[in-house]
Amino acid sequence: MRLNKYLADCGVGSRRACDKLIEEGKVKVNDKVATVTTQVEIGDKVSVNGKRVGTGKKLTYIMLHKPKGCVTTVTDDLGRKTVMDFVKDIHSRVYPVGRLDYDTEGLLLLTNDGDLANKLTHPRNEVSKTYIARISGKLADTEVRQLEKGVMVDGKVTAPAIVKVLEGDAHHTRVEITIHEGRNRQIKKMFEAVGKEVEFLKRVAVGDLHLGGLQRGKYRFLTEKEVNYLKNL
Ligand code: URA
Repeated sequence: MRLNKYLADCGVGSRRACDKLIEEGKVKVNDKVATVTTQVEIGDKVSVNGKRVGTGKKLTYIMLHKPKGCVTTVTDDLGRKTVMDFVKDIHSRVYPVGRLDYDTEGLLLLTNDGDLANKLTHPRNEVSKTYIARISGKLADTEVRQLEKGVMVDGKVTAPAIVKVLEGDAHHTRVEITIHEGRNRQIKKMFEAVGKEVEFLKRVAVGDLHLGGLQRGKYRFLTEKEVNYLKNL
């Protein structure tokens, strides 16, 4: 959205008055002085004369049990199902926090709180994410230790992880793995690095927030306590 419209929506003044403020260099978007051509997106931090402004919209926080077979985007050029199809009756314009692959299921947060979304996805904050993975073959103790210490993924060693073998036989192993990074296809690539293929992947927790018994394809609103927990991570 154009910055002058956004400011007007926030009650700062008419669009013309807002243009004047912008021309005078009094408006910043994400801490940078804006120009009249600056566009504002959900999650941007906008201030006038150093004071934060917002539309006063109701902040909504949702946990979805993403099923496999849908993309974690708001729209899809290829016409595939998106996670938004599962939260159609929510009236706020929420959007997904981070990403799960098309064939990954599990805990996905959606919100219209840009600050919290940025915080949860910024690598600096190292929010832990726990997955259950079923992998091909038997996972040796040495491989568990390798994964825990760090393996080479896309030319960079992964940060320490916690790996627990839950059960397994000669053909498959079920593993719980907690990581603090959010690189693209990270879990699959970590297992690939030790010669294993991920056959099934489900995110069961983000920090201490657990998926629990939430059914596939269903969502629930976070409690105030859960929202505060995430804000204080
Ligand atoms: N790691 C993956 O490989 N895929 C996901 O969807 C999430 C983490």
